[in-house]
Amino acid sequence: ALISMRQMLDHAAEYGYGIPAFNVNNLEQMRAIMEAADHTDSPVIVQASAGARKYAGAPFLRHLILAAIEEFPHIPVVMHQDHGTSPAICQRSIQLGFSSVMMDGSLGEDGKTPTSYEYNVEVTRRTVEMAHACGVSVEGELGCLGSLETGMAGEEDGVGAEGVLDHDQMLTDPEEAADFVKKTHVDALAIAIGTSHGAYKFTKPPTGDTLSIQRIKEIHARIPETHLVMHGSSSVPQDWLEIINEYGGKIPETYGVPVDEIVEGIKHGVRKINVDTDLRLASTGSIRRFMAQNPSEFDPRKYLSASVKAMRDICIARYEAFGAAGHG
Ligand code: G3H
Ligand code: 13P
Ligand code: ZN
Repeated sequence: ALISMRQMLDHAAEYGYGIPAFNVNNLEQMRAIMEAADHTDSPVIVQASAGARKYAGAPFLRHLILAAIEEFPHIPVVMHQDHGTSPAICQRSIQLGFSSVMMDGSLGEDGKTPTSYEYNVEVTRRTVEMAHACGVSVEGELGCLGSLETGMAGEEDGVGAEGVLDHDQMLTDPEEAADFVKKTHVDALAIAIGTSHGAYKFTKPPTGDTLSIQRIKEIHARIPETHLVMHGSSSVPQDWLEIINEYGGKIPETYGVPVDEIVEGIKHGVRKINVDTDLRLASTGSIRRFMAQNPSEFDPRKYLSASVKAMRDICIARYEAFGAAGHG
């Protein structure tokens, strides 16, 4: 059944677990997520990005999620719009039937330029007013995702302008977070703690200086009732990087957010954990390996089944590690 994010995260807070929010772009991801949730009895948050809407088209995405709900009626599902860059974009998703939207006012409508605090409060507050009138939840974001190693705004390809963000913008301030929640009434708050989107988060395994779980604790202590969201939380499995590179890929040394660190965050108010890159890596690695090992095979269902299985295993591991398993 389709439910609001507020309802799902309230339950997660009451029982002290976190829910992975997986990005969805195609049938294979959708199947992998639902089969894993079914297998582990977990609640589901699926999210569609602007890139997903561009790739699949909003109607296909919407019906993909509705089809998942139809096939798995016993599983609670949140249909969430990831990183909306304006109230108008969120409004369109609400009209399409999403039960939750993210108004990311930390960046401007280009999705790149850091904004003022006042701008962020204003666009988020307006979105909450509109969404709540329709029974839809809102996630806001305070602070900019980015690498504390380089000051880079988290370029997905690993090459970007260094030093565009200063250290302060990349760690959410607990006092400001309290003021933001009070002024906007968001249902969940994405915070910046040193993570960034994509596979190139850390050049070496993160330490307290590059990934600040400490900052989560400080924010949670200040606003214990607020559901916190971790973006850029793929763990970048080293075994999948090895498989990709073994079968003709070329991905340089890189590290993600260790699952243990996320589990520590969950003990301090983190309820939604965004994961996209890990499914991309598992999909690519499994397809590269299948193609190399089965050179005469040309039925896409064969290599895409390998992709579904690889992604399903990642989903199962996250549902179990984050404690969502058994709460579906
Ligand atoms: O927000 C980042 C997610 O990984 C979605 O990425 O815009 O390439 O679909 P995307
Ligand atoms: P990853 O790139 O770490 O998977 O993060 C995804 C995300 O934050 C989507 O909003
Ligand atoms: Zn994100």
